[in-house]
Amino acid sequence: MNIRPRRLRRTPAIRDMVRETALSPKDFIAPLFVKHGQGIKDPIPSMPGQFQFSPDTVTEEVRELHSLSVPAVILFGLPDSKDPTGTRSFADDGVVQRAVSEIKEKVPEVLVFTDVCLCEYTDHGHCGILKEGEVDNDATLEVLALQAISHAKAGADFVAPSDMMDGRVAAIRWELDEAGFHKTGILSYAVKYSSGFYGPFREAADSAPQFGDRAGYQMDPANALEALKEASLDVDEGADMIMVKPALSYLDIIRRVRDQCVLPLAAYNVSGEYAMVKAAQERGWIDGNRVMMETLISIKRAGADLILTYFAKEAAALL
Ligand code: PBG
Repeated sequence: MNIRPRRLRRTPAIRDMVRETALSPKDFIAPLFVKHGQGIKDPIPSMPGQFQFSPDTVTEEVRELHSLSVPAVILFGLPDSKDPTGTRSFADDGVVQRAVSEIKEKVPEVLVFTDVCLCEYTDHGHCGILKEGEVDNDATLEVLALQAISHAKAGADFVAPSDMMDGRVAAIRWELDEAGFHKTGILSYAVKYSSGFYGPFREAADSAPQFGDRAGYQMDPANALEALKEASLDVDEGADMIMVKPALSYLDIIRRVRDQCVLPLAAYNVSGEYAMVKAAQERGWIDGNRVMMETLISIKRAGADLILTYFAKEAAALL
């Protein structure tokens, strides 16, 4: 007997029938950047096809995503001013809060996630409150909880803490419940590495640290067991979904977390991963659409249920 695996690859119909992983627009959460103003749609140079929006134009973008069957977006804010403790992050008239209410009013079918972190709102660009030159964990938790509550009040379906402080999921869950927001969910950036792949995002969100780096709170790329520890802590603290970030250099981590955890698992196909594909495509070195789809399917195959990706709109249009 001859074993001939190629029999199952012979025609498109056969390949379709035996394909193990399927990608759908329903898998995507589209990241969007918002700033104050009206009628704004400013291109982000290092992320071709991505923009900084105002609350009105972001709502139009969300409508378009909805028409392509993308069920969810995650919002990042560029505030009008910054200070040492990031007070604009929890203002009722803050830019994310305004954008959430406008989206929820005009396109209520789309799920709105909000990034909860201080780096876009602090003048020093770190993800928390500084004490003696270091990010103070417990002082930061209070501000994160205020931010989460203000997003919930504006109508966010899920808040997504990305700061990597210890205990923030429990703190946010507790404060949300105290304030009566027991329906608001938490997507925790449980496993977030200290990564060079965030470069273009920091330009897009104007959130680069003004000194030092984030290695004191984000994870060491060399560690995998620590990822399992972080994931199980966030499950115990009450996260509804968890995330691994970045995605592509961490497909092994996605798989290991998937195997250990029963919550829905998201992976963040981050800005640098997007920018590399776009840059190579612009030079004619790769077929951009093909690499985009191969990238997304690899993240799904590794075990992610949901993918946060700047490709959401383009990929959904092809699916
Ligand atoms: C922090 C945050 C970052 C990203 C999402 N949330 C940047 C960072 O930790 O420096 C990166 C996302 C991307 O690169 O696409 N608020």
